[in-house]
Amino acid sequence: TLMTLALTATHAFDIQAHRGGRGLWPENTLHAFDQAITLGVSTLELDIALTADDVVVVSHDMALNPDHTRDATGAWLPATGPLIRSLTLAQVQAYDVGRLQPGSQYAEQFATQVPKDGERIPTLAAVFARVKERRAHAVRFNIETKLDPTRPGDSASPEAMVRALLAEIDKAGMAERVTIQSFDWRSLALVGQLAPTMPRAYLTTARTLKDSRWTAGLNAADVGSTPQLVKAAAGATPGQVIWSPAGNTVTAAAVKEAHALGFQVIPWTINTRADMANLIDLGVDGLISDFPDLLRTEVRQR
Ligand code: G3P
Ligand code: CA
Repeated sequence: TLMTLALTATHAFDIQAHRGGRGLWPENTLHAFDQAITLGVSTLELDIALTADDVVVVSHDMALNPDHTRDATGAWLPATGPLIRSLTLAQVQAYDVGRLQPGSQYAEQFATQVPKDGERIPTLAAVFARVKERRAHAVRFNIETKLDPTRPGDSASPEAMVRALLAEIDKAGMAERVTIQSFDWRSLALVGQLAPTMPRAYLTTARTLKDSRWTAGLNAADVGSTPQLVKAAAGATPGQVIWSPAGNTVTAAAVKEAHALGFQVIPWTINTRADMANLIDLGVDGLISDFPDLLRTEVRQR
């Protein structure tokens, strides 16, 4: 319809702060989300895990990551720490995730900034509360269920995670402002069943054509292009479908094809101005970046 056309034509380019903008601030922390809001991003990208006491917390890693984790004495974890699923919320929040261990990615850039002590792995509820407190009513959330189908013991089950996530979204009254994303398409199928109008983002990498087919429960030998695979997985469930490919796998033809199927295309994780410019020229609807400041500048200068 004309109305849809008008909306499609004018929908704003989606500037997504990857883990709150992990090139600029300690990832997946309230501090990062605060800064990203101040910067003026449209979406906070974040990852979730479930604690032993079934609290939804914001973490990219299923196990505590030595790159940014210090224990209660202030000492860096010497190696990968315990699984979040094995710790209570109180135990998880005994660790400090506000600084980067020297030698880890982005540690050098961070060294020039004021160190941030006392940052904890936040609960998703606390992130929602902070965004409300800030009155950032337009800010959206792109929430990734972190699940590894080959290591089911490392996290909650897809069902437990999706149910806990939907309950938190509901409790905070955020249903209109959330997209749920995953490489593990089993969780997206559950979202389709339990919250059919919630936008779902199908994450892919160069090699996940095969993996995604498996996690989507598809048996077809080959369903063709990745947009076609997303279509087969997303099925007839209503709700906006987003295809989120790895940035280096995107072609103009695939963007066109996805758009023709009614999907948005929001690649990850795009960190240079040149790559941002190329993908924007291909017609993508948004980008996920460790450097939302660069992305904002690139988008504004057009
Ligand atoms: O949104 C997709 C992107 O976040 C996937 O990468 O590993 O940072 O979660 P990762
Ligand atoms: Ca993510």
